[in-house]
Amino acid sequence: MELWKQGAEAKIHKTDFYGKPCIVKERFSKSYRHPILDKSLTAQRVKSEIRAMLRCRMSGILTPTVYFVNMDSSCIYMEEMLDSVTVRDYIQSVQSSKTAVEAIETLTPLANTIGHTLGIMHKQNIVHGDLTTSNMLLQGDPSNNRLCLIDFGLSFFENLSEDKGVDLYVLERALISTHPNTEKLFNVILEAYCKSNDTGSKDVIAKLEEVRMRGRKRTMVG
Ligand SMILES: Nc1ncnc2c1ncn2[C@@H]1O[C@H](COP(=O)(O)OP(=O)(O)OP(=O)(O)O)[C@@H](O)[C@H]1O
Ligand SMILES: [Mg+2]
Repeated sequence: MELWKQGAEAKIHKTDFYGKPCIVKERFSKSYRHPILDKSLTAQRVKSEIRAMLRCRMSGILTPTVYFVNMDSSCIYMEEMLDSVTVRDYIQSVQSSKTAVEAIETLTPLANTIGHTLGIMHKQNIVHGDLTTSNMLLQGDPSNNRLCLIDFGLSFFENLSEDKGVDLYVLERALISTHPNTEKLFNVILEAYCKSNDTGSKDVIAKLEEVRMRGRKRTMVG
């Protein structure tokens, strides 16, 4: 297997699975954690990840197909999303090649798709836990908005507006801190979110406001 990327928690390898292009996500142990705790945390993340990927797929959200799981080595073998870029790289490339106004215009359909997809996800009570622009892929021509969600290791299944609000808050912070001038795009995401998650979105947005206030207070206190 060829090592492709290494994150804080996992190594990403490229290989093939019975002839299909395959990504192997291998979670490695952390030496600073107690070995028993480490083993149980790792197993929990692997299980959460495959569970959420399957649940998303069942509700029509694109996620890589899981081919095989090896609990002993904490490896998930999954479909490699061919011809894809992270939303992070895509936003950066649009922002660096266009004026600020043009960039917002180009990225608005993507923001719509992100909001719509997250609305469906939360409607199914799937909380992602690590919504960043690196954990979203665009497959094929980015203008087709074929959005694929990945990296569900911190996800859980919960019907609380608070957890969903925090999920959106994490995305807001990640978006604005990674990509300048994206406040407007986040508003587009929220509007689309509310449209696709019509029943629960009011409470989720109220919780988002609450979490924002808490965040602000914390920075004011230092
Ligand atoms: N199925 C896939 N197809 C194509 N690229 C992938 C796939 N899975 C992961 N990648 C690429 O590898 C990167 C890292 O994957 P992922 O986010 O799952 O792990 P990670 O961030 O290292 O995990 P952690 O957040 O636990 O540290 C992604 O940003 C993406 O570029
Ligand atoms: Mg990631």
